[in-house]
Amino acid sequence: MSAFNREKVLSVRHWTDTLFSFRATRSSGFRFQNGQFAMIGLEVDGRPLLRAYSMASANHEEELEFFSIKVADGPLTSRLQKIKEGDTILVGRKATGTLVSDNLIPGKRLLLLSTGTGLAPFASLIKDPDVYEQFETIVLVHGCRQVSELAYGEELVAKLRDDELFGPLLTEKLVYYPTVTREPFRNRGRITDLITSEQLFNDIGQGPLSLETDRIMMCGSPAMLEELRAMFDARGFLEGNHSEPGHFVIEKAFVER
Ligand code: A2P
Repeated sequence: MSAFNREKVLSVRHWTDTLFSFRATRSSGFRFQNGQFAMIGLEVDGRPLLRAYSMASANHEEELEFFSIKVADGPLTSRLQKIKEGDTILVGRKATGTLVSDNLIPGKRLLLLSTGTGLAPFASLIKDPDVYEQFETIVLVHGCRQVSELAYGEELVAKLRDDELFGPLLTEKLVYYPTVTREPFRNRGRITDLITSEQLFNDIGQGPLSLETDRIMMCGSPAMLEELRAMFDARGFLEGNHSEPGHFVIEKAFVER
């Protein structure tokens, strides 16, 4: 049996000159936990060319969705950005990843900290009813250089707010906090600085960071993840994984593509 399924592209959206998303069919046997990733890609010269991509769709959805950067000379994304409805993509049969709620000790507030396409696993997780059961509050932070790069997340949250099932859950529990570093916007600054200065918590009108109640998932640029890890380490937060749940879990956003 092949290691991947062949799926049909159903739609493609280009958000900026460096960001796009696409939806594809989902083989019935493909199972994953919200927040996980799989190897996906294209057949090039008769061979699979694959990279790790977080599912941006939730596991209760019939279709798959992915959110990607475009790298002009990237072996995969230079090609993948040209896909059209009806094209075939390859999706690895096995999903994996650390950004799953089982890897966290129970808590009250879930902080989802992302930059760029690191938003993708959280797009899946905020569509998971179990996450709303497990936490009293979910704070979704998305940091980008430019306002235009927020569009995918803005639309995702807006659509969920209008959803019959999720609308009430979001109203009760989800705080969405987009922030921009290189041009004017209502929220400005790097996630690291917004946490250190407590500006994030002041802006959303909630209490400061707490080892007792906060659980954290992060996905984004390696530099940000390193700084955040050091910051949470210094405050006594423990990193979780499959064998031992902790206060925080990390996945780097996959950028070599
Ligand atoms: P900045 O504009 O100040 O570099 P990138 O597009 O390079 O992946 O960056 C995405 C977002 O992550 C940008 O807003 C960027 O801010 C921010 N960022 C980059 N490095 C760090 C870091 N070490 N800590 C926190 N945020 C970072």
